[in-house]
Amino acid sequence: MNYTYFNPTSIEFGTDKIKSIVNYIDKKLKVLVVYGGGSIKKNGVYEQVKTALEGYTWLEFSGVEPNPSYETLNKAVKIIKDEKIDFVLAVGGGSVIDGSKYLVAAALYDGDGWDFLDGSKQVEKALPLGAILTLPATGSESNTTAVISKKSTNEKRYFGSPLLYPKFAVLDPNVMSTLDDRQLANGLVDAFVHTCEQYLTYPNTSLLHDGYAQTILKGLHTLSMDWENRKTISWQENLMLLANQALNGFIGSGVPQDWATHMIGHEITAFYGLDHARSLAVVQPQLLRVMIEDKKEKLTLMGKEVFDMPNNYELVIEAIEYMYNSIGVSTNLNDYEIDDKVVENITTALKAHGMTNIGERGNVTLEKVAQILNMAMKK
Ligand code: NZQ
Ligand code: ZN
Repeated sequence: MNYTYFNPTSIEFGTDKIKSIVNYIDKKLKVLVVYGGGSIKKNGVYEQVKTALEGYTWLEFSGVEPNPSYETLNKAVKIIKDEKIDFVLAVGGGSVIDGSKYLVAAALYDGDGWDFLDGSKQVEKALPLGAILTLPATGSESNTTAVISKKSTNEKRYFGSPLLYPKFAVLDPNVMSTLDDRQLANGLVDAFVHTCEQYLTYPNTSLLHDGYAQTILKGLHTLSMDWENRKTISWQENLMLLANQALNGFIGSGVPQDWATHMIGHEITAFYGLDHARSLAVVQPQLLRVMIEDKKEKLTLMGKEVFDMPNNYELVIEAIEYMYNSIGVSTNLNDYEIDDKVVENITTALKAHGMTNIGERGNVTLEKVAQILNMAMKK
């Protein structure tokens, strides 16, 4: 084990925490509040933000869409530059927070912000960012990554920098009251797959990393079995904390990481618009089957520690699929609106993005991706 771990985001967790944002944003700063399609106006979050920002100079930018687009975000970049904004406050789910990460980097860059996404430029400076999370799923509220889509080319790519860590993240589970079943299930599946990407690889020697990941997986599995109580505050606050811990960087530090499911899933969303978590749910079980020789030791451990199952790693994959299906997330690619070019589109895009050898051992090739996608299209 040999790594640097650093996470500077202050977490404000619990009821009524939105008002604490004033402790982090200097009154002299000009603030841009960024949000999505308006859910924050239905659950009192917008009003709470407005009250907290009394006495501040602030503007707002709305309309950041799920799978935030470069095209929409560039309109906000212009506002930030023209209005000389000093601080960006993201209020929403992963899309709004990711979009805001793009804004804080692109606003201090003279070139085309897509340079960060195609990897030709690294972020060298960024405006300060704060986050009020309304949908637990991605962990974006306290990590360094952003995933941005370019509509004109059907691309969905990611970039990251320690400069993108939000200064603070407000996690008030009460804001989840307006989330529908689809988004709650998406959040649970996304957080589960994030943990798997950093755990279901090959054995490592750290007892803490495996134990921590197993606790997150067990927690999420428990929530799936307790689905009928998903509207209770204790269910929702558990999802909020579990999803945060799944991707705040710690469980992946110093251990092998996979991320092949995510790389394939992002391309599926770019072409066919599947919700992020649903793209993962169709890919992950088949990827585990195709890569079974590499995965079987950790699958066996997961079976024992998470699902309390006998020594049968193939059954663990079935348990994962069962779990997703039980909360209404299909693992069959044919249940989504795809076309007969899906294998060609996804493998071509992965190739164009340099993703021809992905996974923790770099052995998920384009041939294997084609096999995974063909298996995911169940009759
Ligand atoms: O736009 P609004 O009106 O806010 O509605 C949103 C949106 O329609 C709604 N919503 C959010 N909070 C709500 C609510 N509706 C009712 N009540 C609330 N409290 O939910 C819908 C989906 O929101 P979105 O932000 O798109 O969902 P999510 O948080 O799942 O984010 C997905 C995005 O994050 C990226 C994904 O690729 C995708 O673009 N990811 C980001 C990661 C990261 N930064 O580390 C990692 C992930 O693997 C992922 O790739
Ligand atoms: Zn994800």
